[in-house]
Amino acid sequence: MKGRAMRVAILGATGQVGREFLKVLETRDNFPIEELRLLSSSRSAGSEIEFRGKKIKVIEVNEKAFEGIDIVLASAGGSVSKQWAPVAVQAGCVFIDNSSAFRMDKDVPLVVPEVNGHALKNHKGLVANPNCSTAQLVVVLKIMHELAGLKRVIVSTYQSVSGAGKEGMDELEKQTKALVNEEPYAPKKFPKQISFNLIPHIDSFAEDGYTKEELKVIYETRKILELPDLPVTCTAVRVPVLVGHSESVLVDLEKKVSPAQVRESLANSPIVEVWDQPEEGIYPTPIDCAGEDPVYVGRIRRDTSSENGINLWVVADNLRIGAALNAVRIAEYMVANSLVGQKVTT
Ligand SMILES: NC(=O)c1ccc[n+]([C@@H]2O[C@H](COP(=O)([O-])OP(=O)(O)OC[C@H]3O[C@@H](n4cnc5c(N)ncnc54)[C@H](OP(=O)(O)O)[C@@H]3O)[C@@H](O)[C@H]2O)c1
Repeated sequence: MKGRAMRVAILGATGQVGREFLKVLETRDNFPIEELRLLSSSRSAGSEIEFRGKKIKVIEVNEKAFEGIDIVLASAGGSVSKQWAPVAVQAGCVFIDNSSAFRMDKDVPLVVPEVNGHALKNHKGLVANPNCSTAQLVVVLKIMHELAGLKRVIVSTYQSVSGAGKEGMDELEKQTKALVNEEPYAPKKFPKQISFNLIPHIDSFAEDGYTKEELKVIYETRKILELPDLPVTCTAVRVPVLVGHSESVLVDLEKKVSPAQVRESLANSPIVEVWDQPEEGIYPTPIDCAGEDPVYVGRIRRDTSSENGINLWVVADNLRIGAALNAVRIAEYMVANSLVGQKVTT
């Protein structure tokens, strides 16, 4: 990659996504880092995290924490981003945010680089990373759109508990152990028992009966694909899986295409893997995809209830493509295209 080595800060470094940032950065040999600053709340300040063989002390985020930094990778939640993004941008950083705080702001590019990297060109210092379910979905939809034109999208998600952070994973593990031992374990992080169950309720309910998670998938998909009128509907479900979000997707297309054409187009993408020989037991599951980079697609078949519909099963690691990996790819794209360290005009 062209350009100098970057000075990077991770805001929320001790969280689920923060830890994944560290894992992703460890492996990005072509993304040289001159300095890595790890930021958290007062709770984890003072702890140490190892990166490339060196221990780095975590510091509590503060007014001076962004000085001298080029890129902030933020995953500490919406209210924290709202508080610190303006401070970081003022200090000259590019702030790549994993929360939903700025995603629908018209001045903030919402980006999956392989889908709409061009949207980064006119950034004003702040860039948003999409919701985890949206990120893997749009990679597939973009390819389907180029192949045959999107007419309508119907998606049901099966989202792992890591999408709700460290506390979500702890709750599934502890609740499962408790219930196996016939001990009570009341839900805290989730609205109902998640062990041996599933919950069609992620985030709060809006007035129209959709959850905010479902609305994020709908609105963010339209923004990223630059198809503001695309009919999209979503049902988002939390399932007792630790890592990896799955999606059942029905794509209604303008033109008729065969499943073979869809497989071929998807397989041409450098970030998609097609696993689609169901009779041989080859189709992706979350356990196959956890810790991996691609978006996996299987169960590709013609929808027999519509003229030009195709059904797909899409699985990816929500902590990687849905958060840390996508944010690092945004950073890499911006460095490669000389979009970091520019004078930003507001
Ligand atoms: N998990 C996913 O699949 C996923 C995907 C896409 C986006 N996201 C988004 O990424 C964000 C983080 O998610 P997560 O799953 O990593 O959560 P998490 O495991 O709960 O981690 C939260 C992180 O934020 C830090 N933090 C909390 N309050 C803070 C404050 N006031 N000041 C500074 N740091 C603070 C925590 O530091 P302490 O250790 O000090 O508490 C911790 O490092 C959320 O906005 C989430 O919506 C998550």
